[in-house]
Amino acid sequence: MSAVGSHGKIILFGEHAVVYDHPALAAGIPDALRMVSLAPTSGPVRMRILPWDLECSDSSGDLLGSGLRRLKEVVPGGGRGCSVVLKSGIPPAAGLGSSAAIAVAMVRALCQVREIATSNLQVREMAHEMEKIFHGRPSGLDDTVATFGGVCLFRRSGWDRHERERKSYCMITPQTLQVPYRKQSFLVGNSGIEHSTRHMVAGISRRRKANHKKVDALFEVIDESLTEGLAAMNEGDNSRLGKAMLNNHGALRSLGVSCGELDEMVDVAMAAGASGAKLTGAGGGGSVVAEASGCEEEVIEAWRSHGYSGWRVELTEENRTL
Ligand code: MEV
Repeated sequence: MSAVGSHGKIILFGEHAVVYDHPALAAGIPDALRMVSLAPTSGPVRMRILPWDLECSDSSGDLLGSGLRRLKEVVPGGGRGCSVVLKSGIPPAAGLGSSAAIAVAMVRALCQVREIATSNLQVREMAHEMEKIFHGRPSGLDDTVATFGGVCLFRRSGWDRHERERKSYCMITPQTLQVPYRKQSFLVGNSGIEHSTRHMVAGISRRRKANHKKVDALFEVIDESLTEGLAAMNEGDNSRLGKAMLNNHGALRSLGVSCGELDEMVDVAMAAGASGAKLTGAGGGGSVVAEASGCEEEVIEAWRSHGYSGWRVELTEENRTL
């Protein structure tokens, strides 16, 4: 039994804008899901996730059940199903890519029992089909990072040759440039408020229909934050990186996808010494990410004293799957 698992994700820049073909930068969280056991079945697909206390099968009437039925269609070979127990290192529905992590881990598990040799590119394509069941029209960022990990610069319509060469990053899918990074850590803080990505994405679509110019101008601010943040990451300038993250948060707030708790978590992190922080993922609850080199414990403690949990995510060479 070879290892089956997947990454979670922290979107550093560009959530929501990425749906409208703006670039986004996201980092993989290692070990979001790791396989505990995998057994073939005569057809059904069953999944259990520890410690979420979640059990589901392809006969369940909820969205997860529909996703597992789609899984059986997209993985070639037919016939065999699987019974999988996974262990998670991230909370569910917290803006950290749990649904994409499920999709990728389950594709890998079913491919293994159906003895299908797949590349990561194929895994990502099949997982994207499951993500469509969960979220409607996802950009593909989450399933890409769940598959490959590392730090991904993603654009929905892909990168042309000129942009690829100029950026001199490694192209791992037509939409994804893998960005080399120094040893870097971020703090993730969880508000404990669950959110629906589908609902938040639909909200932006409504606001854009009502005021196209305003929303597109905010997407431009997000683009500028990404360019600034990426340059800062390349130079190892954490203070500049933090400022760019804060700028991105301001634009997301103006887009209406933040909430009181996320704004409070950003303010609390800043007051405890972080150089920057922003909501990460779809917003409306879920999580924030902070750049807080040198004051990690202070920020985590400050979040804790306000009733929020926080932990450190380290980006190392091991958290990519090429
Ligand atoms: C959700 O993790 C990220 C969004 O940009 C949606 C998407 O990319 O499909 C909000």
